[in-house]
Amino acid sequence: MTEEQSQPKINPEAEPVRVKTTGDIEVSTYLEIAKEMAGEKPVVTKEAAAPPERESIVVIDFGSQYSLLIARRIRESHVYCEMVSYDTPWEKIAPLNPKGFVLSGGPASVYQPNAPLAPAWVYEKHLPVLGICYGMQAVTKQLGGKVAPGERQEYGHAVLHISDRESPLLAGLDDAPTVWMSHGDRIEEMPAGFKALAYTENSPVAIMGSWDNIYGIQFHPEVAHTPQGKAILKNFVYNICGCQGNWTVGNFINESIARTGKLVGDGKVINALSGGVDSAVVATLIHRAIGDQLVCIYVDHGLHRREEVERTTKVFKENLGMQIIYVDAAERFLTRLKGVIDPEVKRKIIGEEFIEVFEEEANKIGKVDFLAQGTLYPDVIESAASGSTASAKIKTHHNVGGLPAEMRLQLIEPLRYLFKDEVRQVGLELGMPEEMVWRQPFPGPGLAIRIIGEVTKEKLEILRSADFIVMNEIKKANLYRQLWQTFAVLTDVKSVGVMGDYRTYGYLCALRAVTSEDAMTADWARLPYDLLARISNRVVNEVPGINRVVYDITSKPPSTIEWE
Ligand code: XMP
Repeated sequence: MTEEQSQPKINPEAEPVRVKTTGDIEVSTYLEIAKEMAGEKPVVTKEAAAPPERESIVVIDFGSQYSLLIARRIRESHVYCEMVSYDTPWEKIAPLNPKGFVLSGGPASVYQPNAPLAPAWVYEKHLPVLGICYGMQAVTKQLGGKVAPGERQEYGHAVLHISDRESPLLAGLDDAPTVWMSHGDRIEEMPAGFKALAYTENSPVAIMGSWDNIYGIQFHPEVAHTPQGKAILKNFVYNICGCQGNWTVGNFINESIARTGKLVGDGKVINALSGGVDSAVVATLIHRAIGDQLVCIYVDHGLHRREEVERTTKVFKENLGMQIIYVDAAERFLTRLKGVIDPEVKRKIIGEEFIEVFEEEANKIGKVDFLAQGTLYPDVIESAASGSTASAKIKTHHNVGGLPAEMRLQLIEPLRYLFKDEVRQVGLELGMPEEMVWRQPFPGPGLAIRIIGEVTKEKLEILRSADFIVMNEIKKANLYRQLWQTFAVLTDVKSVGVMGDYRTYGYLCALRAVTSEDAMTADWARLPYDLLARISNRVVNEVPGINRVVYDITSKPPSTIEWE
């Protein structure tokens, strides 16, 4: 996949884009943001997580935007999979007990100087190898075949014609399935010992395989545009690598509980609850392992949606039986936000205040040994990515900055190796309510970044009322789960309206609803007109202070999901 096709044009003179965290905020994010902004180094902590011990497939990353998707697809087939950079030494790979390797796509050309290639251990271990797109070209080059620039870029759908029906890689595939191509270079000559297993109109070698289980695929089996792609990857891991398929949510939970119990012993763990899925699942999982040795602190910054705080604390206390320290800090946050308009200053203030309140509460507990954190696998990967300033910045996100040095907390990150959909499955299996497990992401600074301009009590109340109607209507229309995020924004624009015989002068409320896979990109949701009409009607009639509603029809990029 060439980067140009997916990236928007960047104006080099434009202001640098702010780096924001994704999804629900965890305390460490606040800690990190504040510490980073203060220009201090984070307190170094020891990570207390180890990758699961089991069979695995290792994806070697050459920088394709789809690399992580390969890992996700393989895990969906119940085989544990991790992604590593192409220059990772074997010593780091061996503990994963790999049964095979997948070489990802990437933006380079193999004949460019310094083009990344597979490390020698990929071929020396005599395990099955599957090269995808650029990965196939790397295999071809390294094993003595020829790669050449294609006459033109092949981008988009193609029909696959299978020439070897006996290949275990292609078992059970439909005739002539559609596949997604995205490449410039092509295989001119296969290495010795390989034969073509399938072709498309423009790629005479769309799939190749060797007698010793090295395969290459020119298209992208990991993307949704290749409907049979998951079956091909599944064939590779089961038919060719001989995996057993022991990566299940149940196994993960059992192992995680055992590991946490052993690690913590009779120590104490604190966790900052936000109401978000990740921190909630972390808390529930750790609670299963160590019971009341876990203390959750819920800092209520007063910027949550209506009924959200009550619902969250009730679920944790009553349904899940956990110890929760609830801190009502709404006044403190509001006082500090007085007169603040700049969104990044709002974030900074909220981050700093959060740490202060959290620290005060943590200090009251006495000796604490561990801090639980809801880091997910994509965050880990992002942190490991080298070279870019964005990744360098995101990296500190996983450290615990800001805590007093004498606390010296160790991190527990039980979800460190999970994707978001796996986290949700874990939550469901642990008996957490669906409503909590499927909750849409909500930003840490909450409604403060959905009120354009100064945050006041009055505006918070107006926005909460409008937002409550939006959520209610979206849920009634059964669209909540299909949408990545849905919310109301209170703009600082006032406009004229008429109600009855009176002229009104009220706020303009914007409605935002987006679909997305990971918040990196998003599309505005094509909500039905009658639903939009219902929401608009209800908001204007039921919320004093708002007399106009608009629907945001911009995607990300070029917009962001949030308005601030
Ligand atoms: P944007 O607006 O950048 O948002 O498209 C991408 C995702 O990140 C969430 N978001 C935040 N989450 N703290 C958070 O914890 C923040 O400051 C923040 N800003 C944006 C946003 O809701 C979306 O899911």
